[in-house]
Amino acid sequence: MIVVGTQWGDEGKGKIVDLLSEKANIVARYQGGPNAGHTVVIDGKKIVLHQIPSGILHPNVVCVMGNGMVIESAALLEEIKLLENNGISISGGRLLISHRAHLIMPYHKLLDKAREQASGSKKIGTTGRGIGPAYVDKYDRCGIRVVDLLDRNSLQEKLSNRLKKVRRELLSLDFDDFSFDAKDIMEKLLKFCAVIQMTDISVCLHEAVSNGKEILIEGAQGTMLDVDFGTYPFVTSSNSTVGGACTGLGIGPTQISSVLGVVKAYTTRVGEGPFPTELDNALGDELREAGGEYGATTGRPRRCGWFDAVIAKHAVRVNGIDTLAVTKLDVLDQLAEVKICTAYKIGDTTIDTMPADCSTLSKVEPIYEAHPGWMTSTKNVKTFTQLPQKALDYFHRISDLTEIPIDIVSVGKDRNQTIFMTK
Ligand code: GDP
Ligand code: IMO
Ligand code: MG
Repeated sequence: MIVVGTQWGDEGKGKIVDLLSEKANIVARYQGGPNAGHTVVIDGKKIVLHQIPSGILHPNVVCVMGNGMVIESAALLEEIKLLENNGISISGGRLLISHRAHLIMPYHKLLDKAREQASGSKKIGTTGRGIGPAYVDKYDRCGIRVVDLLDRNSLQEKLSNRLKKVRRELLSLDFDDFSFDAKDIMEKLLKFCAVIQMTDISVCLHEAVSNGKEILIEGAQGTMLDVDFGTYPFVTSSNSTVGGACTGLGIGPTQISSVLGVVKAYTTRVGEGPFPTELDNALGDELREAGGEYGATTGRPRRCGWFDAVIAKHAVRVNGIDTLAVTKLDVLDQLAEVKICTAYKIGDTTIDTMPADCSTLSKVEPIYEAHPGWMTSTKNVKTFTQLPQKALDYFHRISDLTEIPIDIVSVGKDRNQTIFMTK
């Protein structure tokens, strides 16, 4: 099963993946890197995962980082240490890394910063983790991969070739605040290599499938940040939609049995770019505070707005979603009225599909339908039938508009604040 974000990320994928990991043998990530921030809360204790899949908190789960990811070695070592400090060990082959995955190097982060600075008002608002430049190197065929760490001499050569060009690029962007010590970079990488377990993930996953193991695949970011189907150019640099799972792990589409879309009961976005249902007002601030909408990676305040069914339908289509998990329903508990955007208006035309260009999307006018709020706390609700009728009506409407059943509703951060349709 693939778990995929349907909006601009931060839908609560971490929580849902952690929950579903209880029944999984392997949890695999296929794209992105430390730009992700996936929060898991267990008995009030919060852990934010950036690169390691959110299944790691289940001791019997093996976590896999796929070839489609860009991995930052220093940040990964820190994440491993954080887990160890919380009593979670990766020893015994619990964390496998694809030898084909690319590495984010210190210069990728500088290039990210320099390009953003040079873009001025046209900046993307990236997480500054070097994601774009690392993927550029991958597709420009000058990236450094995990497998390269096994050959010291060739690594040294690749690194020094790359550094020469990086220096020129940084200077051309008027960025001279850098110094690289190739030897230091090499030493750190070799130490990292000694700690990690690299392997052919595709082979490993195929063996697992043959042995009847359950594999859960965790998407990072969300559909609207996908490099093809998102709000380009205000997107991340990978395919966060489900196609990325095949290329990012080395599995075929015939091996995917289902796709669960995670959708927040409202919408948020971090960084720049159009956001039709944004509430740039006191109500948006209220949602931000009620939902704790501050980036799990950068701490930036998230922009907040109403649920957008045009986006949800787009996500359902491009990912082949067959069930939904609606998260953060509790955040709407105190509102007298909640709105759903059902279509966009452009001039005299009404559309319910996603325009490809940002300039059109930034001009659309959302068409809303209003629903009465339930104004009761849902945080302790354990079954669907206990939900207030107006909350049920709200998410039934989401299900009607997307034509997809809702299997899970999340009403709080903690594992136990979850309602399963089947229970
Ligand atoms: P991800 O990137 O999709 O994994 O999501 P994040 O972890 O970045 O952001 C989701 C935030 O909402 C985290 O702080 C979660 O602890 C929190 N969260 C998840 N589900 C719920 C929920 O149902 N209700 C509330 N109030 N918070 C939730
Ligand atoms: P999770 O997995 C929300 C956004 C950044 C920026 C754009 C490009 O936690 O949902 P990048 O650093 O990737 O080049 O930034 O994408 N972005 C995210 N927004 N959640 C994320 O991940 C994100 N990862 C990247 O804010 O707008
Ligand atoms: Mg997040």
